[in-house]
Amino acid sequence: MISHARQNPQEQPDIAPPADDYIAPAPRVSVQAFCETAETGAAVRSAGEDRRLGKAHLSVQMGGVAAAIEAYRTVPTPNVIILETEGRSDILAGLDQLATVCDAGTRVVVIGSDNDVAPYRELVRRGVSDYVVGPVDTLDVVRSICGLFSASEAITVGRIIAIVGAKGGVGSSTVAHNVAWAIARDVALDSVVIDLDLAFGTAGLDYNQDPLQGIANAVFSPDRLDTAVMERLLAKCTDHLSLLSAPASLERVYDFGDDAFDSIFDTLRMTTPCIVLDVPHQWSGWTKRALVGADDILIVAEPDLANLRNTKNMLNILKASRPNDRPPLYCLNQVGMPKRPEITAREFAKTIESQPIAAIPFDSRMFGAAANNGQMIAEINAKHRTTEMFLQIAQRLTGRGETKKPRASFLSPIIKKLRAKTAGGS
Ligand SMILES: Nc1ncnc2c1ncn2[C@@H]1O[C@H](COP(=O)(O)OP(=O)(O)OP(=O)(O)O)[C@@H](O)[C@H]1O
Ligand SMILES: [Mg+2]
Repeated sequence: MISHARQNPQEQPDIAPPADDYIAPAPRVSVQAFCETAETGAAVRSAGEDRRLGKAHLSVQMGGVAAAIEAYRTVPTPNVIILETEGRSDILAGLDQLATVCDAGTRVVVIGSDNDVAPYRELVRRGVSDYVVGPVDTLDVVRSICGLFSASEAITVGRIIAIVGAKGGVGSSTVAHNVAWAIARDVALDSVVIDLDLAFGTAGLDYNQDPLQGIANAVFSPDRLDTAVMERLLAKCTDHLSLLSAPASLERVYDFGDDAFDSIFDTLRMTTPCIVLDVPHQWSGWTKRALVGADDILIVAEPDLANLRNTKNMLNILKASRPNDRPPLYCLNQVGMPKRPEITAREFAKTIESQPIAAIPFDSRMFGAAANNGQMIAEINAKHRTTEMFLQIAQRLTGRGETKKPRASFLSPIIKKLRAKTAGGS
């Protein structure tokens, strides 16, 4: 694949990237880069820090293709070799020589420069997997490496959306469940909700599902996990929505290592386009890892001082840990609770330095009914403003609009006639 580096690399837009610019994380692979310029070396090194290459082992050295040939005379080649060519070396001759020491299965990425565009056909003939025209930035390198694996090995590469509260009890699970419902029903993406609050999670209640031990079975026997096992652990809520529910039993305690959920997420990603994590309000190794590793994050906050402080702190640390991602989004919930002094959305946004993507009104009657009946807000009142808000959040998080039948344009009768004519004429 040939690709050009983007023009404005530093800016991470605040809107969801289009679905085709989605970068799936790379598996546990080794990547060695041989650069010719310090700039490319720096871009590759910083790509190695990106969350999507968190599992990969990446090393960078200088010297281009000549250094690579020299290095692999004695040691086996890694899964991926990145070669930069600035035109100082003959890349085609270099690749021929490299081929004599390259193990089968090693993929080669070439980073070229504008004034040295090697003939693409010749590169392909030599088995080059990707060719990027520089100058490259961090994300170009991440995209190229991840692209080598997402296209061939994974069946689907699901996006992970993590939803977490800025404080306990703010309604983050309620928002997670309603947003996931909208993603599945209105955006029509097959989705799974994972209830990560093993002791007290309410997803099973909210979706009115019989108790199932989904997440507990998965996390306590990670070696058994594959897509078939995972499928059996899911409770089906609607056509497009399934749930990996929490046991909500206190027989055991739930202390997890940082990477306890990695294999669950990886397995689900292979079959499910959208995974919504209901992350409990905790700051532990595994909750932080789930947030940092997610494709998108939504923080749910109530409009008070402690929520404001926590939201700011969470945004700061998450932004710093994800320098190549769009910043986490946040929404306000339970806004306008009678008699409660509140910080206005405007003040909140001013301090946080970004706007909430929604301000969901407090409505104890409607939310209480939904919680007690095991229903979604959309089922209680499909036309309510809050239902519309959950849909908007769903669209914002997935970067997709509602999948409604397109409205007929005023030209459609004419187009129909033309089509009928051509069909008849041929
Ligand atoms: N906008 C709202 N108006 C009124 N009640 C709400 C609203 N949003 C959520 N609630 C209610 O607040 C309660 C707490 O919600 P939820 O369990 O989703 O919070 P949480 O942030 O996930 O809590 P925890 O910290 O326990 O995980 C529930 O009873 C829910 O129905
Ligand atoms: Mg919760």
